[in-house]
Amino acid sequence: MNVDGIEKAALAAVDAATDERSLDDARVRYLGRRGELTVLLRSLGAIDAAERPAAGARINAAKARLQEAIERRGGALAAEQLEQELAEEAVDVTLPGRSRSGGSLHPITMTFRRIERIFEAAGYDVVSGPEIEDEYHNFEALNMPADHPARAMHDTLYLDNGMLLRTHTSPVQIRTMEARPPPIRVICPGRVYRKDNMDASHSPMFHQVEGLVVDEGIAFADLKGAVVDFVHGFFEQDLGVRFRPSYFPFTEPSAEVDVQCVHCLGDGCQACGQSGWTEVLGCGMVHPNVLANVGIDTERYTGFAFGFGVDRFATLFYEIDDMRLLFDNELRFLEQFA
Ligand code: PHE
Repeated sequence: MNVDGIEKAALAAVDAATDERSLDDARVRYLGRRGELTVLLRSLGAIDAAERPAAGARINAAKARLQEAIERRGGALAAEQLEQELAEEAVDVTLPGRSRSGGSLHPITMTFRRIERIFEAAGYDVVSGPEIEDEYHNFEALNMPADHPARAMHDTLYLDNGMLLRTHTSPVQIRTMEARPPPIRVICPGRVYRKDNMDASHSPMFHQVEGLVVDEGIAFADLKGAVVDFVHGFFEQDLGVRFRPSYFPFTEPSAEVDVQCVHCLGDGCQACGQSGWTEVLGCGMVHPNVLANVGIDTERYTGFAFGFGVDRFATLFYEIDDMRLLFDNELRFLEQFA
C-alpha cells in the first residue's frame, strides 16, 4: 500500500494548482468519493486485521495533511486573486481633483455694499430711482432750465421719445422729496450715463451714490461731518479731507471734496499727479429753488446733498489703476476679489 507515494503526488498537485478549479480537481482526485485516498481507506477491509489500525491511522493522517494543504493553498490563491483585482481596479488618487469655482461679487457690488453699510449705520435709508429719466427730474427741478449753461457739463444720451438716460443720481433727490416729507436722510446708489468715450478714467456708464439730508437746522457743518465720517469709514484710516469752493446749480454754496492720496498719503506720487490729493465728491447745501420745486418750506427746512463716483472709490480702495478693468468682465481680473 503506497500511502506515502499517493500523499506526495497529492501534495504536489495541490502546490501546482494555479486557481480554484485546479485545486478542486486535485481535492476530488484524492479525497473525493472515488478519490485515491478514499478508495485506499475503503480497501482496508481486505488487509490483515492486525495491520488495519496502523494502516488506517496512516491513511487518515495523510488525508488530514492533504486537507490542511488544500485549505492553505486555497487561502493563498484567494489572497492572490484579491491582490490582482485590487491592482487591476486601482484608482490613481494622486490625480488632482476638479475644483468648482464658487463665483464672487463684483468689486463694484462690494464697494456699493461697503458704502451702504456705512450710511445705514449713520441712519440713512437706501432708495433708488429710474435710469430712464425725464428732463424735469434730471435737470429742471435741479435748477437747470433748458438754456442753463451747466447742462453742457453733462453730455446727455437722449432717447427717441424725449426721455434721457440720467446723467447723475441727483434726480432721485427730487423723487425722494416728492414722495416723502422731511426729515429726509437717504442715499441713492445707481448707474448713470454720459456720452463719454471709454478710457482709463471714463466710461459711458458708471456708478454714483447720491446723498440727501433735509431737516430743520441743517448746516454746512453737518455736511462736512457726514462727508469726513464717510471717507474715514470707507478707507478705514483718518485721511485728510479738504473742501474746495465749487459750483453746482442745485446746491449753494457748493464744494468739491479732495481726499489725501491713498497711495502716498499726501507726499505726491504718480497716482495723484504729485498733488497729494484726489478729488472724490461733489456736494453743497440744497439750493432753495430745488426745495421750492418740490414744495418744501424753505423758511423751515434746509438740507445738504452730495454725489460721488463709486468706480473712483472702488479703484482707490482696491488699488486698480485702470477703470476699464471694472467693465471688461475679465474673469482672471474678477477672480482676484473672490
Ligand atoms: N450730481 C453731481 C454730479 O454728478 C454731484 C453732486 C451731487 C453735487 C449732489 C452736489 C450735490 O456731478
